[in-house]
Amino acid sequence: MKFEDIKTVGVAGAGSMGSGIIQVAAQAGFQVRVFDLSEAMLQRAQKTITTSLDRFVKKGTLTEEQKGEVLGRISYSTDISTLSAAQYIIEAVFEDVAVKKELFKQLEPVLGADVIIASNTSSLSITEMASLVKCPENFVGMHFFNPVPMMKLVEVIPALQTRKETTELALEMGRKFGKSPITCKDTPGFVLNRLLVPYMMDAIRLLEDGVASAEDIDTAMKLGAGMPMGPLELQDFAGVDIGYYVGDIFFSYTKDARFAPPTLLRNMVKAGHVGRKAGRGFYDYSEK
Ligand code: 3HC
Repeated sequence: MKFEDIKTVGVAGAGSMGSGIIQVAAQAGFQVRVFDLSEAMLQRAQKTITTSLDRFVKKGTLTEEQKGEVLGRISYSTDISTLSAAQYIIEAVFEDVAVKKELFKQLEPVLGADVIIASNTSSLSITEMASLVKCPENFVGMHFFNPVPMMKLVEVIPALQTRKETTELALEMGRKFGKSPITCKDTPGFVLNRLLVPYMMDAIRLLEDGVASAEDIDTAMKLGAGMPMGPLELQDFAGVDIGYYVGDIFFSYTKDARFAPPTLLRNMVKAGHVGRKAGRGFYDYSEK
């Protein structure tokens, strides 16, 4: 398939990463077909996308008219057959091999010939997932960052089975979405999380050891290293539970102690202090 043949992008999974991917695909001019089993998730995605586009309108980088056009290109459904119109499908469903496997099984009868499937997984093996689809050579990793409409990076990860043309299409798709793609091997954490996760875990260990307060750790990294958010603030933003889950998966793959979630992180998840979305994480958001 040639890149010019791709007119419709399908997105499976309308959570926070899925919403961002839907938005950047529609902003890039594609028709976007969205599938999620949950009607509530689809409605939440519509709200998230509208709010994000409103921010761009407020900043003056998008007009009201363009916002309307972007929204008009997106259609939502709880019926997976909506994805049959897509030449390029990005999956952003729950990070569990069993869930992904079920999705691929249901996708099989609705897929057109030569359709590319890209996975936004951050923690699972692209090669393992490729082995679950009918055409592994058309399968590739395409890892976005939170918040997707703002972050300019996308990691493109070929599986062992991926054909060169598929990787090239994914790189071109990343550029079309306004991102600067990089390529990397299918290894735990790819590039960004391999560096970021140990850093986040170390920041939590500093807090656990009483070396400095959460505010001072974050201030150090913002003012001394130019980070837009401190590591603990970022953990609250991305989800303390996600940080725990991802660290634990990488640790189980690699047995590398740098990825191992500290006890404090584990306890916070148990206590439900999972970050901004819960009103409490390393900081208290209950006033907001
Ligand atoms: N669409 C969506 N979210 C937007 C947005 C838009 N158009 N504009 C801003 N945001 C978000 C911000 O994150 C934040 O949320 P809040 O209002 O609810 O507090 C708010 O909106 C802040 O906006 P500001 O205008 O104050 O901030 P900036 O626009 O200057 O910068 C930022 C926001 C780009 C998110 C910056 O803080 C940043 O770069 N932070 C670091 C993010 C990061 O490191 N992401 C990677 C996470 S790791 C990851 O994704 C791994 C993966 O495996 C999950």
